[in-house]
Amino acid sequence: MKLLVTGGAGFIGSNFVRHVLREHPEDQVVVLDKLTYAGRMENLADHEDNPNFSFIQGAIEDREVVAQAVEGVDAIINFAAESHVDRSIEEPDAFITTDVFGTQVLLEAAREQEIGRYLQISTDEVYGSIDEGTFTEESPIDPSSPYSASKAGGDMLVQAYHRTYGLPALITRASNNYGPYHYPEKLIPLCVLNAFAGIKLPVYGDGMQVRNWLYVEDHCTGIYTALTKGNVGEVYNIGGPDECPNIEVVKRIVELTGNDESLIEYVKDRPGHDVRYSLSSAKIRALGWEPKTHFAEGLEETVQWYRDNEWWWGPIRSGEYLEFYKRQYGQALQ
Ligand code: NAD
Ligand code: TYD
Repeated sequence: MKLLVTGGAGFIGSNFVRHVLREHPEDQVVVLDKLTYAGRMENLADHEDNPNFSFIQGAIEDREVVAQAVEGVDAIINFAAESHVDRSIEEPDAFITTDVFGTQVLLEAAREQEIGRYLQISTDEVYGSIDEGTFTEESPIDPSSPYSASKAGGDMLVQAYHRTYGLPALITRASNNYGPYHYPEKLIPLCVLNAFAGIKLPVYGDGMQVRNWLYVEDHCTGIYTALTKGNVGEVYNIGGPDECPNIEVVKRIVELTGNDESLIEYVKDRPGHDVRYSLSSAKIRALGWEPKTHFAEGLEETVQWYRDNEWWWGPIRSGEYLEFYKRQYGQALQ
């Protein structure tokens, strides 16, 4: 198959590209990515010379570049998104442009060029927060942040293009990912890098919010399963095997980095903060998928990856990142 992977220079997209080129050498991968602050060619450095890999720089909301990129592809997998909740609270516009309008431009190109399959990479955050139990694919959409609302908008368009035009499209909704190449604005990589530097680890509110952690490689196998075995018109949840309150995640990072808990700092809570995410993955498990990595083991591997790859994260913690950090946490990083 020839796959168009939009947003393939970001965290999950680049892990997916690596997964496909390694595990499915019969496939070809074309990445279309705008290279925002979160998209980096460093994420794809090991594949630049692979004959099965090519890269186009461009935005999914740009009809011309999208029309060129989709030519001759068998499937589109759309990872491209603005993805950080805190940035969506600060400045929502780009979230609508990419996550809603960009999705519609991709869907339209897929329809015009009769692409065989369109897979939208979505998130459990579209369901909102759940105090007890788990969300299934039938749970109502109830987003809380501009980020999750923009992702929900994208999902609704995918559903409409399937129902109205018969587009062979499907959606996966995953829980919180973690692992290598994760941009250090998100909880785990931010705390790991702060811990390395002996800088405070910011915990929002009381730290009792629960996330359902999914190792990124397990997400990639789930996406490939949905792509090749899933039914069009369907949604598939891809949830991690373990749930953990944020404060426990941060304490574990403190331990793995040889620090003590005085490094933890409770800071102002996020507005509209979802208390708990939890997904039932029975539907994709019925297709033969299961997550292989438990959180304890995956977190240890992730900390080790950051320890070994300062070449990757060192350059990020400068420039725009420092400005973002100061705005977000009200204190300078260095
Ligand atoms: P990320 O922010 O690391 O990467 C996003 C990528 O999209 C970057 O390479 C960026 O350059 C690119 N991009 C942004 N706007 C673009 C545009 N207009 N046109 C083309 N490319 C653009 O995000 P991520 O964490 O890798 O998430 C990937 C996808 O998975 C997103 O759709 C996100 O909603 C979804 N998701 C993420 C998680 C998670 O825990 N990170 C969980 C479930 C679902
Ligand atoms: P995040 O990694 O931003 O993912 P999401 O908001 O998509 O779940 O945040 C994970 C959880 O950690 C969330 O409950 C917010 C919290 N959090 C903190 O407590 N401190 C931080 O500095 C960050 C970035 C997040």
